[in-house]
Amino acid sequence: MSWQAPKAPRGMPDILPDDVPRWRRLEDTARDLLERYGYREIRTPLLESTDLFARGIGEVTDIVEKEMFSLAVGSKDRPESLSLRPEFTASVVRALLEHNLHRKKPFWKLYSIGALFRYERPQAGRQRQFHQINGEALGSYDPLLDVEMIDLADQILRRLGVEDYRLRLNSLGCAGCRGRYREVLRDFLRPRLAEMCETCKGRFDRNVFRILDCKSPTDKAIVASVPPMEQHLCDPCRAHFDAVKAGLDRLEIAYQVDPQLVRGFDYYTRTVFEFPCARLGAQDAVGGGGRYDRLIPDMGGPEAGAVGFAFGMERLLLALEPKPAAAGASDADARTGVPVAPDGAARGGVFVAAFPETRAVASAVLAELRRGAVPADLDYEGRSLKAAMRVADREGYAFVAIVGEDEAREGSVTLKDMRAGTQARVARGDLVSAVRGVKAGG
Ligand code: HAM
Repeated sequence: MSWQAPKAPRGMPDILPDDVPRWRRLEDTARDLLERYGYREIRTPLLESTDLFARGIGEVTDIVEKEMFSLAVGSKDRPESLSLRPEFTASVVRALLEHNLHRKKPFWKLYSIGALFRYERPQAGRQRQFHQINGEALGSYDPLLDVEMIDLADQILRRLGVEDYRLRLNSLGCAGCRGRYREVLRDFLRPRLAEMCETCKGRFDRNVFRILDCKSPTDKAIVASVPPMEQHLCDPCRAHFDAVKAGLDRLEIAYQVDPQLVRGFDYYTRTVFEFPCARLGAQDAVGGGGRYDRLIPDMGGPEAGAVGFAFGMERLLLALEPKPAAAGASDADARTGVPVAPDGAARGGVFVAAFPETRAVASAVLAELRRGAVPADLDYEGRSLKAAMRVADREGYAFVAIVGEDEAREGSVTLKDMRAGTQARVARGDLVSAVRGVKAGG
């Protein structure tokens, strides 16, 4: 019985070889900058205990209420619920505390790059499996750290060449400010609640802050006139926010204070920020983050402040897509400027061409080349010598090494330089250096 053509799960697209160079460039750029700013990589598991996310991110958040991929495992007596990670922050804090990293030194800068999972309705820029570049600086309350983090995020965007983005900034204050502001918000919204969407009616009691970033046009209009949080900050929170703004001004990083920016996690305190990009559609945030001064102590660690950010890699790539008018043929990828070999092949290597009788010898030649660190390949599709030469040309190989019967007998190959159009007989023992010599010379 044959299968119906299987498909990847909805919202979990494959990343095909032609796309991988763009992904690599994102990763390389981000790693380079993160490490320049003092971050070290940490890799946490794809699955964590469901409880970690429920408590870390907050029970009354969209992610925990309806977007987690959770699985029940274990035995009847010892049931366990694990969830695919919907973000990195909770996992990084868990790892910090579990391995007592904070006891080794109180301040850490950690980054992660990888896949995350949220059961959302897929649309442009929103997937169920997506990827983030994530940074966390743990163990400091310094507002200059918030500034440094925003600067780092901004530098990543600049270095990648993302255009048309802005920076939204807000302060959510501390638990005290939030408690007071919650009542201000409720008093303001209560008389208008009947006009608001059903979701917001539910949010009113459970998490009134989330009403601030509701997308419904009626609710947006109501929310536009709520008294801003900034006016309700306590003195230390106001001083922190002022220091962040002054720091950004010093670095000439433009921002807009946006009282509607609340973000979808309960752990945030004080600074929150987001980078919307006009190149994207409804899901326009390429990244965002903020300070979370309660998460480490709430998870059983010491009193310690922290701040972090994450970029969505799919959204960065969407933001980097060329405007339609800019499309044009070039051997550099128009989106990223990364040179792309025709059909993605290893440019500059050696294609080994042989006859059916000499293929066994050719496979030894191939191994010798690879052991000599030369990218090389052999035809596995039963092509004639002529057809193999055409493939080598099309895929951008610098050389073809022909293993004919004479060559096989005398332990040599005929090396054809595809650019120069010249060819010469070369002893197998000299092949690697011959190829390298020509490459080094030109
Ligand atoms: P977040 O805003 O949920 O923050 O995600 C950061 C970025 O990930 C978003 O701006 C977006 O670009 C991308 N993203 C989120 N969900 C999806 C999705 N379903 N499909 C495609 N891209 C998506 C966080 O995750 C926080 N943990 C960031 C942070 C780190 N805060 C402090 N430290």
